[in-house]
Amino acid sequence: MELFEVYKLWDIEPVRGLGTTLWDKDGVEYTDLYGGHAVISIGHCHPHYVKMLSEQLGKLGFYSNAVQNGLQKELARRLGHISGYDDYKFFLCNSGAEANENAMKLASFDTGRSKILAFSKAFHGRTSGAVSATDNPKIQSPFNKTDHVDFVPLNDAAAVEKALATREYAAVIIEGIQGVAGIYEPTDDFFRTLRELCTRYGTRLIVDEIQSGYGRSGLFFAHQRSGIRADLITVAKGIGNGFPMGGVLIAPDFKAQYGMLGTTFGGNHLACTAALAVLDVMENEHLVENAARIGDYFQKAFEGDKAIQEYRGRGLMIGLELKEEYIGLRDRLLFEKHFFTGAAGAGVIRILPALSVSEETAAAFVKAWRELTAIKA
Ligand SMILES: Cc1ncc(COP(=O)(O)O)c(C=O)c1O
Repeated sequence: MELFEVYKLWDIEPVRGLGTTLWDKDGVEYTDLYGGHAVISIGHCHPHYVKMLSEQLGKLGFYSNAVQNGLQKELARRLGHISGYDDYKFFLCNSGAEANENAMKLASFDTGRSKILAFSKAFHGRTSGAVSATDNPKIQSPFNKTDHVDFVPLNDAAAVEKALATREYAAVIIEGIQGVAGIYEPTDDFFRTLRELCTRYGTRLIVDEIQSGYGRSGLFFAHQRSGIRADLITVAKGIGNGFPMGGVLIAPDFKAQYGMLGTTFGGNHLACTAALAVLDVMENEHLVENAARIGDYFQKAFEGDKAIQEYRGRGLMIGLELKEEYIGLRDRLLFEKHFFTGAAGAGVIRILPALSVSEETAAAFVKAWRELTAIKA
């Protein structure tokens, strides 16, 4: 049997990692400023993470959600504390898409309404409901095209109000910072207006912090810079540093009923241990602060750069929109200078490294960039 080819692969096979360094099977070294789609939060193979997971694996790897699991309770307590959402409840699942499915379902149960309002260029995942709220018809099968979801432009408060005033919408779902689209931010004012409109019209506000959260923007959650509180916050990616997991933070006024949500694997012992190790390292090594600091470093370093049309994002969620003549730079950064970065279409390079990335590594990237852009692609 061969693999079903849905991914366009580079001909590189990393087999080992440490921090922001990767080695391929021939021993060639790469610097990882992408973290495999913003997943690696504390760095590859952090010794504390490896130790905690190895020890847990030798104790108990898995049991189902039919029994008590102290690790889940500990994780909820720690996440509430670090995020400032102490009074919220936590539901654990296995991925970002699944977290969004559960959040939309909760909003729908809660309001008795079926419609969801989402934003142009949004990405919320590839499962049925999540892909319906994703503004990309190319990844929606006919089964996923639904009248339940409408899209309005980001930062267009009038369009949101027009929709919500119908009182048909269970939820608005919005990314803390749009990632896959190429790094576009809701303004602080827009977040505040959105909060106000959701409250006024009885609609739940879901903030998808799957890419922008967990410290990446320099705050624990990107939406917190506007001072608002969401009703439901979805997390995944960085929560497990590569261990597949997702979760929903749920405002205290939601009513839980036995059986309304569920999962076989969600919140298992290994997953929770991975997430606890991530929080240990984030706290002990002050990684949220480091994300803000290195983000500022990149922003200053790229100010006025001749290859960049626009610098977008904050902290370590960065989109570099390239001038036309520099398109192709991402491949050159990878193959000539051995830096992994992300993309959004051909024209935007996304920088999403581990939050532990050092200033030396950031400086080495800027140097490599300058060397390549001195000679046009
Ligand atoms: C903002 C956002 N939401 C949801 C998802 C889907 O997460 P997953 O691939 O874990 O299902 C992603 C993945 O890129 C994302 O960036």
